[in-house]
Amino acid sequence: MSLSPSGPLTDAFGPNATMELVHPAAPGPMPWWRSAVVYEIYPRSFADADGDGVGDLTGVRAHLDHLAHLGVDAIWLNPFYVSGWVDGGFDVIDHRAVDPRLGTIADFDAVIYKAHDVGLKVIIDLVPNHTSDRHPWFQAAIAAGPDSPQAGLYVVRPGRGAHGELPPNQWKSKFGGSAWTRFPGNATDPVHWYLHLFDVHQPDLNWQNPLVRAEYISIMRFWLERGVDGFRVDNAHALIKADGLPNEAPDWVSPVGNPAAAEAAEHAMRRGERDAPLSAPRRDVGPQWDQELVHEVYREWRTVIEEYPGERILVGEAWVSPPERLARYVRSDEMNQAFNFEFLAAGWNAPDLRTAIAGTVEALDAVDAPATWVLSNHDVIRHLTRLSLPPDQAWAGGLDPNQRMPEPAAALRRARAATLLMLALPGAAYVYQGEELGLPEDASLPENALEDPTWRRSGFTVRGRDGARVPLPWVADAPNFGFSTARVPWLPLPPGWRDLAADRQRSVPGSTYETYRAALWLRRRLELGTGSLARLHGLSGLPSESVLAFVNRTTLVVANLGTDPLRLPSGLMVLHASSDLPLADDDAVLVPPDTTVWIDLA
Ligand code: NOJ
Repeated sequence: MSLSPSGPLTDAFGPNATMELVHPAAPGPMPWWRSAVVYEIYPRSFADADGDGVGDLTGVRAHLDHLAHLGVDAIWLNPFYVSGWVDGGFDVIDHRAVDPRLGTIADFDAVIYKAHDVGLKVIIDLVPNHTSDRHPWFQAAIAAGPDSPQAGLYVVRPGRGAHGELPPNQWKSKFGGSAWTRFPGNATDPVHWYLHLFDVHQPDLNWQNPLVRAEYISIMRFWLERGVDGFRVDNAHALIKADGLPNEAPDWVSPVGNPAAAEAAEHAMRRGERDAPLSAPRRDVGPQWDQELVHEVYREWRTVIEEYPGERILVGEAWVSPPERLARYVRSDEMNQAFNFEFLAAGWNAPDLRTAIAGTVEALDAVDAPATWVLSNHDVIRHLTRLSLPPDQAWAGGLDPNQRMPEPAAALRRARAATLLMLALPGAAYVYQGEELGLPEDASLPENALEDPTWRRSGFTVRGRDGARVPLPWVADAPNFGFSTARVPWLPLPPGWRDLAADRQRSVPGSTYETYRAALWLRRRLELGTGSLARLHGLSGLPSESVLAFVNRTTLVVANLGTDPLRLPSGLMVLHASSDLPLADDDAVLVPPDTTVWIDLA
């Protein structure tokens, strides 16, 4: 649909300026999650209340006021369950108990209570694809042997070769190496193997087994009854594997967590320019991912969460592509939201971002699901650093200390511009802890501090994701910048983070924290989360290769991704800008490179 806008847009940009509405604003009030800004907390690195060097739930509770003041709507807590801590808590031993290093169930209840009291919803991680190898189920399977019903809870198969000495197929672990390990216990003939799409300590569950399904529904009920507002479903696209576990297509290697493949894929995409589908190298494809039957699981889960009062939600983590595949996870009887990694992976490039935004909105509108937008999380290089790396550099797998890091002020400027762009889009948005402080990726961690399983499984060549998981600086003049009173926290904070500490930024105009806060406040006030998306045509002076512009309700959003300042016509009223705007000689708006502005068209 095309319409010619009247008023400020045509006044400013000439009579040829038209808007094309690609997504209408919500007609009235909507459930909270359709427009929420959710703040991801990686509990080990958020705040340490008991001084053992590791963040904990009491630390989370102590800083909920910070988050309410920042203006987010919800928190998403990464796993805090009893865990082997091989994969940062995503190797769960007991799904119904808090890891003692992070606190107690009473501490969890206190987090929920306080969060709700200050108006924040609470989403928690649910890890259904695998358990820890120390989970009682896997231990029982080992004791009972590979042909036992207990082993039938996992994906256990005889190997190939005369005595099963070869793994059942060629699937690879996301963290490097084979996805199969010999089933422990007494020797059998043939040898049996268990599947682990991730670390060797994370055996995959068998989702064809009704006991597995029943157990997870029971786990969900346990937390729903404690008051959680939803679940972020880890590896939502992985639960069901293709019948017969066939080998994957030989030319495919998943790029996620596999930097060599990611790099090759990125190069290929750049070489192919825009003709190559943006999404091609960035998805998990193959017989172990995105199988049709997985949707049955989420249909059942949706009925479970809807039994509970309030608007509880399921958020899927599914590295699938194109957006039409993602949309299948958020059909009206499945999950409520799914992370949109196309946007995250698009980089700082106007055509790619435009494609990612339009593709996402179109695919999700078709199933009446809200888009989600995210730039950073605990698995990828923080966007402050990532968006300023050379364009052909892989973005997964962490950074090497020898890596030339982007110039800090320029990188921060670009990151803030990306954030303001994201927060102006209709739908839900996810903010990762510390981005509101302008934290970069830390590439300087000593090797002996690295804990990501990628480091070990890559033969100590790929550092992994710890650089995005460094603890937060709260107080500039306190030990470990207020994260912990321990002598040495689990990961050290870089000395250069003193000026990024929260107490140095609160109430400081122009600080990253205050820029986020103002954006969140305005986003709510302007109802951008439930707003519209209109493409613009015929605007003179906005080169589409380097400028991204759209209108949400009555807010014009202009991001300058080019290298030259952009001169917008005079008379426009700027509501917010990601960085200071220089004064023009007349009352024109000058948008410097790597800057996003929100302009009032009302
Ligand atoms: C996705 C999580 O975000 C990541 O941190 C984890 O390593 C894998 N799933 C395996 O659980």
